[in-house]
Amino acid sequence: MKGVLLAGGTGSRLFPLTRITNKHLLPIGDRPMVSYAIENLAAAGITEVMVVTGGTHAGEFLRLLSNGREHGLDLLTYGYQERPGGIAEALGLAAHFADGEPVCVMLADNIFEYTIAPSVAAFAEQEVGARLLFAEIAQLEHLRHLGVPELDQSGRVTRIIEKPADPPSKYCVTGAYLYDPSVFEIIPTLVPSERGELEITDVNNHYVAAGQMSYDVIEGFWGDAGESIDAYYAVNDFVRHNGANHPTAS
Ligand code: DAU
Repeated sequence: MKGVLLAGGTGSRLFPLTRITNKHLLPIGDRPMVSYAIENLAAAGITEVMVVTGGTHAGEFLRLLSNGREHGLDLLTYGYQERPGGIAEALGLAAHFADGEPVCVMLADNIFEYTIAPSVAAFAEQEVGARLLFAEIAQLEHLRHLGVPELDQSGRVTRIIEKPADPPSKYCVTGAYLYDPSVFEIIPTLVPSERGELEITDVNNHYVAAGQMSYDVIEGFWGDAGESIDAYYAVNDFVRHNGANHPTAS
């Protein structure tokens, strides 16, 4: 399984901090944001990773992450997204890198208290389809800024709604996604959303419609440090006091 780390986009919700650098290079605790996702992938046993970024600070990722050896990777390669055309578009740039293998995709602004290794291991047994990691979110207003799954009575995902006005469950879709290689056939069929992006939620809904979507509900803290300035500092506070990417407690 290969790892794809998405670190493009505009970071507009963190303006003006992101006028002078890429969002994923901003500090969280004692290191740049992107470090946590790399560490989480490596700890899950993924040794070959592509970082997709864009904009004017792409070279800084090479300076920070180098060839990935410091993080225990065998291969760290880079992709460049020419414009922020969406998470699914950025993932599409990794098609050749994936070379027919399944992928574990992480958004570089997502921070997890615990390793995602159990989900990666479960997906390795799954053979086909996709697997998502859901986090329970206490505040309804927070869910309105995220992807939210609708579940039937047996707990099966019936669809995922991006930034719903009326969230259909108490869970959000976190930025860790596991896909079989058919994801690279789905992406070229997508049409841009109203905001002009290829949406990862549309990719996920393909798998839902095909009856090939599974999920885990994660334990512990999860945060999207790119959601707002408040979220950025809340994630920072958590990480400074508790750390991140710990081996699962239970
Ligand atoms: O954090 C979890 C949420 O991430 C999910 O609940 C949503 O379903 C999902 O759509 C996404 O929502 P966001 O609104 O947070 O996505 P955002 O546009 O902030 O992009 C998240 C990361 O994806 C960003 O840190 C870098 C990468 N990205 C984004 C875009 C738009 C790219 O690499 N290229 C892009 O063009």
